[in-house]
Amino acid sequence: MFEDRIRCAALRGKITSAANAAQLVRHGMRVGASGFTRAGDAKAVPLEIARRAREESDQLRITLMTGASLGNDIDRHLTEAGALERRLPFQVDATLRRAINRGEVMFVDQHLSETVELLRDQRLGALDIAIIEAVAITESGGIVPSTSVGNSATFAMLAQKVIVEVNLAQPSTLEGLHDIWSPAPRPSRAPLPLVSPSDRIGGTCIDVPIEKIAAIVITNQPDSPSTVLPADEETALIAGHLIEFFQHEVSRGRLPKTLPPLQAGIGTIANAVLSGFAASPFEALTLYSEVLQDSAFDLFDAGKLAFASGASMTLSAKRQEQVLNDLDRYRDRLVLRPQEVSNHPEVIRRLGLIAINTALEADIYGNVNSTHVSGTHMMNGIGGSGDFAGNASYAVFATKSIAKDGCISSIVPMVPHCDHNEHDVDVIVTERGLANLTGLAPRERALTVIEKCAHPLYRDFLRDYYRDAQARGGHTPHCLEKAFALHERFARTGSMLRDASTLQRGSQEEAR
Ligand code: COA
Repeated sequence: MFEDRIRCAALRGKITSAANAAQLVRHGMRVGASGFTRAGDAKAVPLEIARRAREESDQLRITLMTGASLGNDIDRHLTEAGALERRLPFQVDATLRRAINRGEVMFVDQHLSETVELLRDQRLGALDIAIIEAVAITESGGIVPSTSVGNSATFAMLAQKVIVEVNLAQPSTLEGLHDIWSPAPRPSRAPLPLVSPSDRIGGTCIDVPIEKIAAIVITNQPDSPSTVLPADEETALIAGHLIEFFQHEVSRGRLPKTLPPLQAGIGTIANAVLSGFAASPFEALTLYSEVLQDSAFDLFDAGKLAFASGASMTLSAKRQEQVLNDLDRYRDRLVLRPQEVSNHPEVIRRLGLIAINTALEADIYGNVNSTHVSGTHMMNGIGGSGDFAGNASYAVFATKSIAKDGCISSIVPMVPHCDHNEHDVDVIVTERGLANLTGLAPRERALTVIEKCAHPLYRDFLRDYYRDAQARGGHTPHCLEKAFALHERFARTGSMLRDASTLQRGSQEEAR
């Protein structure tokens, strides 16, 4: 039974139902589950935990750690069942987001490279159970992950017990794609031996003692497809500004013609911007990224991409079907790694990455808020953006200059929550233009960001703000009483604009 998927005969006796496996999880436990941006999540046992939590109202609450966000509405079901006491390090679910913002779930927003380091150092407590999706279990009991590696390897190694979900819907051809490597304890750790995105430094499966595998559940369900929207006129303009900027850097001899390895963040904007590179003059690009979205395969198919390294593959339904059925076409140019390797500061600095992530808003001095709407309400989390921005050679933040039909300006006097500070941010780009902040002092940065990136609807407000701030002096001038005027007006009226007619005038001005 399932001989080709569970090749270790001694483990076949561990096959059981998801309901039985979920009985291993008890109130107060710390659970580490596979899953990274909807890819490779454990799909059956977490839903059984939710079902049990509903039945045992308030008697089953757990800490859930994952690689990043989950698909299959797992976070929604667990939240609705009241099963989540604590959640880390990332999420994108609307129901969970509301529970976090009501203070019902304690969400720890963490750099994605750090969760397993903290676990290893016993600073997050001991991990009781790991629930890992696999495409196969090898002859010696090695767990072969599916479409993501994320934190799965370290979760499995550190947990007291491991539940494996062998998913028959994930093609067994995924085996061989992974590169599982785990660092030695600190402080005597050797350098991470990866010097090129295509290097392989580990094995193809997660090795744990077979006695630790407490249950095996057979599932048959594909990953939830990605929900990113297609490129639009504004994301095409953002991509155009970036391509022009990097061509300029190449022409000045600052970058090679193939560019350094690229990283692109999650979501619609980063995906669309990276897809835009398909129409660029650059050749033989490489990706050293975290999530490989449709854009990675657009670049492969356009003949632009030589190699892609990631921690997961999160694809639209159409791309998922095509890529998973035709994996051999990409196999030699693809690797999936643990997120502590894909996001490792040492590698990012060594490779001199160009990191392109998305901001909710940026301020005139180049500080970026990626996570907290109006400074208070969690959107998704910092994800890997801090791992990359803090160590990349070019840390780029992209955003449309306005959101919600112009009621929100993405360029503000001061961000009310700062994920990426001015010391880490090199470039801010909107559909209006690109601000290269490298080597600029704050007063120069403010002028550049306002003139290059702000929307015409808000430019005069920002110019006036900066003029008044300058009059007060300082290295980074501000009028503290007015620094959050836009946010305050938004909270009061639902729009950052002074009045609706400004919106109309702005649109007319833009149309002209
Ligand atoms: N204030 C309030 N809402 C804003 C906003 C702002 N300043 N800017 C954008 N939004 C809203 C948009 O209107 C949109 O809302 P909707 O879902 O109701 O339509 C939503 O935020 C998403 O914005 P969108 O413009 O579609 O961008 P995106 O899908 O590319 O997501 C982030 C942008 C910032 C939310 C997303 O990239 C993210 O979570 N980043 C943090 C993590 C990260 O960077 N990880 C990358 C490492 S790999």
